[in-house]
Amino acid sequence: MSIFPIVTYDHSGLRTPAEPIPENNDGLPEFIDNLFDTMHQAGGVGLAAPQVGIPLQLFVVDADIMTEEEDGTKHGPGVFINPEVTPVGDEEWDAEEGCLSLPDVREKVTRPYRIKIRYFDREFQVREEEHEGWYARVLQHEFDHLKGVLFIDYLGSFRKRLLRGKLQNIIDGKVETEYLVVAKNADR
Ligand code: NI
Repeated sequence: MSIFPIVTYDHSGLRTPAEPIPENNDGLPEFIDNLFDTMHQAGGVGLAAPQVGIPLQLFVVDADIMTEEEDGTKHGPGVFINPEVTPVGDEEWDAEEGCLSLPDVREKVTRPYRIKIRYFDREFQVREEEHEGWYARVLQHEFDHLKGVLFIDYLGSFRKRLLRGKLQNIIDGKVETEYLVVAKNADR
């Protein structure tokens, strides 16, 4: 078991579009286990490979703790390789999001309510599912990480301006976390 440090705002790893993963990738099962361990240790409900500085199209999710409380649904742990997410219908909704790469930042984000996701699972079997509500939100948030997108990118300029101080503190490594992080300007 290895725990990776999580890269934080504005580490270049969070802005680098991730590469597709070829089938028959030897190190993949171990990397996936380590990603789960890192996410669980940090208390997150999702973690994408770019958040540990690995630019691959992969994220893991274990969101029951959130979805059960928020909308009473259970999904179990999920591994999403080379995913593609598309909205289904026009319905959108607002909810507050956070991110292990943006400690201390929580903001309301508008997202499609229902999505379709096509991906390869841990056994590299292709799957296609539809999800809605909180689980769909988590999947969209993690999918964004594979494109170099952060949830704060959706905020208006006024909200962004209010966040400047918090973001600078993250860059300077001044935010306390209970998990290992890599800050851009911190002396570590
Ligand atoms: Ni995130």
